[in-house]
Parts: sequence; C-alpha cells; structure tokens
Amino acid sequence: MPSQTALRAMPLEDAIERVLVDEATLQARIAELGAEIADFYRGQDLLLISVLKGSIVFMADLIRAIPIAHEIDFMATSSYGVAARSSGVVRILKDLNKSIEGRNVLIVEDIIDSGHTLNYLVRILQERQPASLRIVTLLDKPERREVDIHVDWVGFAIPNDFVVGYGLDYNETFRNLPYIGVLKPGIYAN
Ligand code: PRP
Repeated sequence: MPSQTALRAMPLEDAIERVLVDEATLQARIAELGAEIADFYRGQDLLLISVLKGSIVFMADLIRAIPIAHEIDFMATSSYGVAARSSGVVRILKDLNKSIEGRNVLIVEDIIDSGHTLNYLVRILQERQPASLRIVTLLDKPERREVDIHVDWVGFAIPNDFVVGYGLDYNETFRNLPYIGVLKPGIYAN
C-alpha cells in the first residue's frame, strides 16, 4: 500500500485498475434519473437532501438534470466503526438547516453498501414527519446488503469492487475523478 505522500506524487489514474462507469454513461443515466424524478414530483414541493461527502458530485449534476423547482439541504453522517455500524447506529456530524415536516424529501446518496447508513437516516427523518421520504442512489452494491432498504431510483447496480471517483473516496482521495473506477488492490491492500 503506497503512503499518502506517494499517492500525492502519482497521477490518480495510475491507481485505477479499470473504469467501471465512464463519464458519458454517468451523465446519460443522470439525465434519465433527473427526468424521471421531475415527472414524479412535477407540481409538488420537493426537497433534496445530500448525504455528505460522497454524494456531492452526483448531487451537483442531478439537480441540474431536474428541471422543476426544488430546494436542497445537506446532512453529514459517520459510523461509529464497524461493530457499531452493524448495530445500525450512525453519528450525525451535520444536521439539516430546516424542518422537513410536511415536505416531500428525496435523499440523495452516492452508494448503498450494507444499507445501515440509510436505514438509520430513514428512521430518524421519518420521526420528523415529512409528507414523503424517498431515496435516489447513484450506485448500489446489492451483494453487500445487510439490512433491507427500499430504494426508489438506482443509477447503476454494481459488483462488489472497491470503487472510487465521482465523489467516492479511498482514504479521502480520488473524489475528483470524473468517472467511477475500480481501485488497484495494491493501493488498499496491506
Ligand atoms: C458512504 C456512502 C454512504 C455509506 C454507505 O459514506 O456515502 O453514506 O457509506 O454505506 P452503508 O450502506 O454500508 O451504510 P462514507 O461513510 O464512506 O462517508 P463519505 O460519503 O464522506 O465518503
């Protein structure tokens, strides 16, 4: 595994084994998702909630693909570690700026893995009594699911590879790649 210093010295693409979803494919699917979401909520109130940090790139492109009036807000979460995560406990690092009571809320995620983060978020947001609560995720790794989650819109179902780019990180790096890539095992293996 290269050190953080070595990682900084190399072109990011050198750490990528292969491109899983290229830029054009991402943008085409996001245009479809945006159109479907706009059709679904047309004429209604809509608030998109991005779960930081991974979803920021998807969020930025998705809102420009939704040609109806809507608002955005942000939340940041962090798990308490692997053991606590499987118990479904997630820490809120940043909460929403405004109440969601009576609003149509759409949670925007970059990836669903075990499902624990969303399971917890849905639970706590439901307690705030939104008019509706739905989920859009760019990526879904169904093989990794530990808790059942109903997802309303999925960009791509992907295999259980270590993916980075387009907001997704390894060690807080690679979020700026414009595509979804599979990381070379030598980068993350011990
Ligand atoms: C990732 C992702 C989801 C969560 C999915 O966030 O953005 O929020 O993990 O995993 P789960 O389904 O197993 O709960 P992460 O904690 O890596 O933070 P980040 O978005 O800031 O990178």
